[in-house]
Parts: sequence; structure tokens; C-alpha cells
Amino acid sequence: MLKILVIGLGYVGTSNAVLLALKNEVVCFDLDENRVNKINEKISPIKDKQVSEYLSKKDLNIKATSRFPEDQIFDFVIIATPTNYDPESNYFDTSSVESSIKNLEKIGSKATIIIRSTLPVGFTSKLKKNYKLNEIIFVPEFLREGVALQDSLFPSRIVIGSHSEKAKIFSNLLLEGTQDKTVKILFTKSTEAESSKLFANAFLALRVSFFNELDSFSLSKDLDAKEIINAISLDPRIGDYYNNPSFGFGGYCLPKDTKQLLQNFDNVPQKIMEAIIDSNTTRKDFISDQIVKLNPKVVGVYKLVMKEGSDNIRESSVQGIMKRVKAKGIKVIIYEPHIKEDTFFNSKIYTDLNQFKKEADLIICNRNHSELKDVQNKIFTRDLFGQD
Ligand SMILES: NC(=O)c1ccc[n+]([C@@H]2O[C@H](COP(=O)([O-])OP(=O)(O)OC[C@H]3O[C@@H](n4cnc5c(N)ncnc54)[C@H](O)[C@@H]3O)[C@@H](O)[C@H]2O)c1
Repeated sequence: MLKILVIGLGYVGTSNAVLLALKNEVVCFDLDENRVNKINEKISPIKDKQVSEYLSKKDLNIKATSRFPEDQIFDFVIIATPTNYDPESNYFDTSSVESSIKNLEKIGSKATIIIRSTLPVGFTSKLKKNYKLNEIIFVPEFLREGVALQDSLFPSRIVIGSHSEKAKIFSNLLLEGTQDKTVKILFTKSTEAESSKLFANAFLALRVSFFNELDSFSLSKDLDAKEIINAISLDPRIGDYYNNPSFGFGGYCLPKDTKQLLQNFDNVPQKIMEAIIDSNTTRKDFISDQIVKLNPKVVGVYKLVMKEGSDNIRESSVQGIMKRVKAKGIKVIIYEPHIKEDTFFNSKIYTDLNQFKKEADLIICNRNHSELKDVQNKIFTRDLFGQD
């Protein structure tokens, strides 16, 4: 049994910690006392059905602290802190990763450092030049919010950014926690692993944008987008998945990861990377114009979260629509049970769905829901397939 420190109790840190605590001793460190207390009370700090189940029902060797555990010795330290996109520098803000490493350096930790936060291309290689205590390995995380633990138990693949002995040991730890022992494990060099994460998300954003532009085309020419998508998706090279139009790609990762990858292209000739980002803005402009054309007096935003099952509103595309519609002087109200405040950017938050339905003469939703069944005549959505 190994001893593992997990830094950051968000979607990535929590699901990694739970998975590894099935067979190892796991200590979690987070600056947020609320999240720390939750882990110690066996309550999930993120909205994730399986994390909640595992914490309450499984025999996990896990505890959390908001004081850096400087007096303990770990075999592995997993860093899963945020790398938000900084619009000033046009780069990821990697300070939380760097400060975590400095803390480890300060206490002379000999642990192997595993970074699961998404990084700019070439970042690990630069870090490794200055860090002498042990190995730093980048292990990209591909989980989705809302099903974070599910994706860790049944990963699409495990990519490890090193060919070293420690890398093999860590891959075995992940494999031990998974329920799919046939999962493909790929060992790559560190910069290739960083690139694979950013290119994977750029491709997903590209796919979303493609179906959204198909939908904009269909709406403009009065065509049935669903018929077109069904017809093209039967080609096995295209596939019948991840093809449901939306207001735009959003959430925490796709917007920031595409921007970071574009920066990493630097002087490398490209057209697609820029187009993916621009296409999302164009789509939001287009959707807002469609809404404004309907002449609503009060637009109701049904939920700010990006996906059903998630409690995360970070960068959700509907917020971009909301901003544009409000700029046209149209009143916007919101139904979002995950927000405790009374207002969000000066728009009133309703917790009573019936009241919200009554007040809004047009209800916009990125994803439709059965609880809106009685007001379908008021709905504006591009959710054609009733799925994510
Ligand atoms: N959310 C996803 O779906 C997802 C998927 C793959 C990769 N990632 C990447 O993983 C990283 C983490 O994402 P997340 O969604 O889990 O983040 P999150 O915002 O949900 O959680 C981050 C946690 O780190 C804590 N934290 C911040 N700075 C800290 C510090 N210096 N020391 C200790 N704790 C600190 C915060 O309090 C928070 O609890 C990001 O780089 C993200 O791009 C996220």
C-alpha cells in the first residue's frame, strides 16, 4: 500500500483521490476548508453521484486537510489544482501548480510528482529542469464533469507522460482502481502527453462547432437540421455521437484549452485552431439574433449549468447568450437551483419553477428537460436529440 497526497479537491482531485483510496492511503490537501470538511465527513465536495456513493459506502482510506501536510512522507503527490486561462497573458495561469511544487520543495519531499492539471505544451519539461528532488510526470486527465468517477473507473485510455519505472508504477495504481482492466495504457514523452490533452479537447470543440454551424445553416435556410445530422451520422467514419447542436461549446475545459493550444501554435501556420474559437463566438451571436428576432419581453434562462448532472456554471455557453440578449435591452430572468444568490449579473434568480415559467414569455435552454414539458410553446433550444 502506497501513501499518496492529492492537492486540489475539485473534479479531478476528488475522483483521483477516491479511486486511489480503494487500495492506498490517501491524504488530500485543499485551501478550501469547506471541501476538506466534506471529505472528512464522507460527503462529496463536487456534484457526482458515484463519488457520493463511494465516499459513503466503500471502505476508503482517505482523509483531508487544509494545512499542508509537511510532516508526512508520500510515495506520490498528485497535483490537480486549477489552470485557468489568463486573458492578460493569453496563457494558462499555472501559479497553483508551481506553488504546490514549491511547497514540496520546501519540505524536501522525495515523492514522485504527478501533474493531472492541464498544462501548456512544454511546461513539464521546463519544470523538470529546475526540480531536482524527484521525477515530475504529466498524466493528462480526460474525465467529464458530472461523471468524473465513472470516467475514472472506466477510462477511455490512460496516457502517462513518461517511460520511467515510476511512470509504470503509477499506471498500475490507476489500473488497479479501474473496473476495466483492458483499458489501453500509452506511455509517451511529457510534451507529447501535454499536446494530446489539448488536441483532444480542441477536436471535441471542433466537433461541437461543426454540428453547431450545420444547425445555423439549417435554421437560416429553413431546413430540418435533425434530418441532416441523422443522415450524415450513419457514416461510421462520422458516427452517431457528440452531434447534438447547442448554444456553443462551454464548461471549464474546452474554451480555455482551445485558447491555450492556439497560443502554443505560436508561429506554426494554422487556420483551424483560430476558427474553432471564432466559430463559438459566431454561434453565440447567431443564436442571440434568433432569440431577439422573436421579440420577447422577458427571456427566462432555464439553468446556467453547462450539462445536466453538473453543478458547474463555469463558462457555460448560455451565459454568452444571456449577455448578448441583455445588451439589446431585453429583460432576462434565471431559473438555477444551484445558485444561492438572489441575482446573477443583475438578473433575478428564481427558485420557484412555476413562477419562472409564468414570468418568462420565452424560455431558453441549452438542454431541454422533462420539467419544461408544459411550456414547450415558450421554449427556444437547439437540443434536437434530448441528450448531451
Ligand atoms: N473539470 C474537468 O472536467 C477537468 C477534466 C480534465 C482536466 N481538468 C484539469 O484539471 C485541473 C483541475 O480542474 P478541476 O475541474 O478539478 O478544478 P476545480 O476548480 O474543480 O478544483 C480545483 C481545487 O483546487 C483547489 N486549489 C486551488 N489552488 C490550490 C492550491 N494552491 N493548493 C491547494 N488547493 C488548491 C481549489 O480550492 C479547488 O478545490 C485543471 O487544470 C483542469 O483544466 C479538468
